Amino acid sequence: MTDIVILGAGNVGYHLAKVFSKTPDINLVQLYNRTLQTIRCFEKDTVITNQLHTLKKADIYIICVSDEAIESVSKAIPSTNALVVHTSGSTPLEVLNHHKHYGVFYPLQSFSKHRSIDFSSIPICIEAKHVNDLKVLENLALRISDTITYMDTVQRGEIHKAAVFVNNFVNHLYYIGETICEENNISNTILHPLIKETSNKVMNLSPFNAQTGPAKRGDKKTIENHLKKLSGINKEIYKLLSHSIANLYGKKL
Ligand SMILES: NC(=O)c1ccc[n+]([C@@H]2O[C@H](COP(=O)([O-])OP(=O)(O)OC[C@H]3O[C@@H](n4cnc5c(N)ncnc54)[C@H](OP(=O)(O)O)[C@@H]3O)[C@@H](O)[C@H]2O)c1
Repeated sequence: MTDIVILGAGNVGYHLAKVFSKTPDINLVQLYNRTLQTIRCFEKDTVITNQLHTLKKADIYIICVSDEAIESVSKAIPSTNALVVHTSGSTPLEVLNHHKHYGVFYPLQSFSKHRSIDFSSIPICIEAKHVNDLKVLENLALRISDTITYMDTVQRGEIHKAAVFVNNFVNHLYYIGETICEENNISNTILHPLIKETSNKVMNLSPFNAQTGPAKRGDKKTIENHLKKLSGINKEIYKLLSHSIANLYGKKL
């Protein structure tokens, strides 16, 4: 039996607490969150606390707080032989080096609290300085996921950068598309088949080959028409992305 404590119950901590509280041979001994109210729903599954000085003993402490709070929260964990890990894509491993055993347990997915998630298909990127700690992390990750990847801090930073492009930026573009629909009294659900096909297509076709649209074709007239109907930051985003696409396909706008 592996005893774990999860610190932080935001989007990631919430889902990890949910999955680990139901994983055989894993004992979620405690869940910490700065705001106690948020974790009342876990009272039946584990001991909850908002007091770092009351942390229980465990084999593994998983820190799931905001990046800027990882170091300070980690310093409140009693110095023991336990393995202390964080779940951040962009925070170096060494931020935890005041602990004897430390590592990273970064699930490469976009988590939202109220959206259920299947961990088995989520790649878990793990890093640790010592081989034995890496083995412990691998065993832990394999309890919930089928895809474990060893990644150092530099590679993890790069994959996090790529994730910002394919998730955060794409999602922001969905938002802009949705507002254009709303401004014109069109239901945004009309975009859903297109959104689905855009993401499904790149599973089998490279994004380079999947690209379509006026910028790829070098269709200046359509682009000018769209720009006339855009303003502010959305106009700048449209121009920037159109130029990036046109350059890639050797077109001049
Ligand atoms: N969201 C994702 O999709 C995702 C994916 C992979 C990895 N990550 C990483 O996972 C970690 C958690 O991200 P998240 O999205 O779950 O964050 P989040 O939803 O914004 O939640 C932040 C958590 O940190 C706590 N917190 C913030 N400042 C604190 C402080 N000074 N002291 C103690 N607790 C503090 C918050 O407590 P309160 O509830 O009291 O505010 C909350 O539990 C981050 O390192 C992030 O980079 C996120």
